[in-house]
Amino acid sequence: MKGLILSGGKGTRMRPITHTAAKQLLPVANKPILFYGIEALIDAGIKEIGIIISPETGNDVKECVGDGSRWGIKIDYILQAEPLGLAHAVKTARDFLKDSPFVMYLGDNLIKDGVGPLVERFKQGGADAFILLKEVANPSSFGVALLDPDGRINCLEEKPAKPKSNLALVGVYLFNPKIHVAIDRIKPSKRGELEITDAIQELINTGNRVDSHILTSWWLDTGKKDDMLEANRVVLDEMTDVAMNGDMDGSSRVSGRVQIGKGSKLINCTVRGPAVIGENCHLENSYVGPFTSIGDGARVSHAEIEHCILREKCQIMEFHGRIADSLIGVNVELTRSNNKPHAFRLMIGDDSKVEVV
Ligand code: G1P
Repeated sequence: MKGLILSGGKGTRMRPITHTAAKQLLPVANKPILFYGIEALIDAGIKEIGIIISPETGNDVKECVGDGSRWGIKIDYILQAEPLGLAHAVKTARDFLKDSPFVMYLGDNLIKDGVGPLVERFKQGGADAFILLKEVANPSSFGVALLDPDGRINCLEEKPAKPKSNLALVGVYLFNPKIHVAIDRIKPSKRGELEITDAIQELINTGNRVDSHILTSWWLDTGKKDDMLEANRVVLDEMTDVAMNGDMDGSSRVSGRVQIGKGSKLINCTVRGPAVIGENCHLENSYVGPFTSIGDGARVSHAEIEHCILREKCQIMEFHGRIADSLIGVNVELTRSNNKPHAFRLMIGDDSKVEVV
């Protein structure tokens, strides 16, 4: 069994953050989203993983992930020159996949329970494809499945205006090599992409067996800012390890599940978990509230931060205010020139400079 992780695309829904970073490398609880997918496949016993990359962000992905040796596995990179759809990505990966069955995992998806049990079910069940479904409130944003009363898939549609059910296709799929034949038979959709949803429908139409499982635990598709914050909240909420590897002075307080990395310093701060603070951060006269992640090398003074993702090396200095529900990019400098307290909701790209006056 091989793994194919999709980490291409342009991340248009996450701009401006994705002008300078691949969305799959954005951190959830200070770890790139992509790593959760890689680790889920490794936990399922997969040792050969191909990652689909785009010309825009491929080098960043390669640099961040490496050749897999840190996990003791082999990672290959496959360039998809244009974002022409998920089925097109599988087509591009044909040489890597050969005739192996594989798990396809969308690099911006997170699922709670991993994929190990699903891989086992697929190996033993004899289906040609196995898909995961989840009840959602906004099915027209996803691929949607209609099931027969006996649980068999009746039909699948990609982002239908009038969805026939509330069951969305989760971005984790298991296939045997018959999917390649189906992909060769489908035509691009109205949005000009070769849709994996259409390829699975083609498998069904040509008499192949497609099984499904409805997830009851959480699944997150981190396409937008609020999805990222929700992913961060959910992952921090389940974090069990507490680690204090930095220093704090006598007037600082840390409560709840909090991880603080090496070389970080807290001076007169209160941190209320669940929260993660990376390495070499400097926090002074500040409050860090629940569901916050702060990346390595960040500096914060006179600020209240809650339910936020602050990326590496960002600086929020002499802020005298509260920042909530925000995603702040690498190297951002955020300052203000008076100290009237306010609340802010922000999405700020890497290298921005913001002064609130
Ligand atoms: C893709 C698939 C869609 C699936 C979704 C899950 O959509 O086309 O069927 O429901 O992933 O994340 P995209 O996020 O590429 O628009």
